[in-house]
Amino acid sequence: MTLKNLKKIVAKYALRYIPKKKIIGIGTGSTISYFIKYLRKIKDSIQGAVSSSNHTTISLKKNGIPVIALNDVDYISIYFDSADEINNNMDMIKGGGAALMQEKIIASASKKFVCMIDYTKKVNVLGKFPLPIEVLPMSYKYVKKELEKLGGIVKKRKKVITDNNNYILDIKNLYINNPIYLEKKINNIPGVISVGIFSQRQPDILLISNYTQVQTILNKS
Ligand code: A5P
Repeated sequence: MTLKNLKKIVAKYALRYIPKKKIIGIGTGSTISYFIKYLRKIKDSIQGAVSSSNHTTISLKKNGIPVIALNDVDYISIYFDSADEINNNMDMIKGGGAALMQEKIIASASKKFVCMIDYTKKVNVLGKFPLPIEVLPMSYKYVKKELEKLGGIVKKRKKVITDNNNYILDIKNLYINNPIYLEKKINNIPGVISVGIFSQRQPDILLISNYTQVQTILNKS
């Protein structure tokens, strides 16, 4: 079975968490693209969706799912997204698709967060996947220097402008053994818009597909 199929399996499995007649939040990425295709079949059971990126908005509209602005909703019942890496404590790295800022906002604004991954994204220590950081373009050289003090190799992602017209810096070779500390520390650098560590807003439910089943892990913290 391919990774693509594992993503499809977990995306389909996540449909069971869709509440009736509610507004849901939708992340970004290839797993989410499959999720939206499955969601299309039951789209009349929800009120609409708050989208985390231009890419997701286009896909939702194409599939006939109403898109609602975050400022127009009282609350979001549940947020669905994937991750680039997740550790045993449910801290994550996200932002491989450069949509980290809106993803973090919508995840934080949602009552529940369901994260769906294939088993290859489960790690003991975060950091093998380069850590994405969204930065204000006028500040990126300063922020890059500050990030280099953390010990990794920092590179500006080529030809990428985020939906918010910002740049992405990726930090390679970081060994993230204290995610919440690092999330706050990086957030505090002037010029940083958002950091791809999701430690303050972890998923409530984690779905992991492997070759035989989909495992469900509830976040007890
Ligand atoms: C988007 O910015 C990311 O946070 C994605 O959620 C993450 O990269 C997972 O993407 P895939 O489903 O494509 O693996």
